[in-house]
Amino acid sequence: MDFKEKSISRKRFIKKALLAVLTIEVFWLLGRFFGFHKGKKRTDKLFDAGSIQSFEKGKFYFYRSQGFCLYCLDDGGFLAMDLKCTHLGCKVNFDRESQRFICPCHSSAFNAMGEVLSSPAYRPLDLYVVMLEDNRLKVDLSKAVKRSDFNIKQIFYHS
Ligand code: FES
Repeated sequence: MDFKEKSISRKRFIKKALLAVLTIEVFWLLGRFFGFHKGKKRTDKLFDAGSIQSFEKGKFYFYRSQGFCLYCLDDGGFLAMDLKCTHLGCKVNFDRESQRFICPCHSSAFNAMGEVLSSPAYRPLDLYVVMLEDNRLKVDLSKAVKRSDFNIKQIFYHS
């Protein structure tokens, strides 16, 4: 096979690959348009974290399979934080001694409220909405809420 033939077959391959990607994209868009990929109902994403009485103040509760952690603050408030690093999305680890979230990928660190202590991440950990239903703490996992800083209004308090 000479250079010209290789070049032509490479071009043909790229064209076919692009066509395949485009076809998949079109089918996916059509599926969305006709409702084949309906998202789960909001209630399906309401995660039941447990009875409100089961949480101890000042403790962190990890729901690793759901990808979040629930912090029960000393004053009884709750903060549900996504465990995905806001830099490039690696799962952060938690160092109990220093009460810091540390990313294994590029060493970003976050404090107990999810605020950035060291970059390259520049945004705090994302939050999930917490609510109380029938005396059970529920976390809405349908959408992680981005934030630029920590604000006391982000804490969920029950009466
Ligand atoms: S992905 Fe966490 S610091 Fe880069």
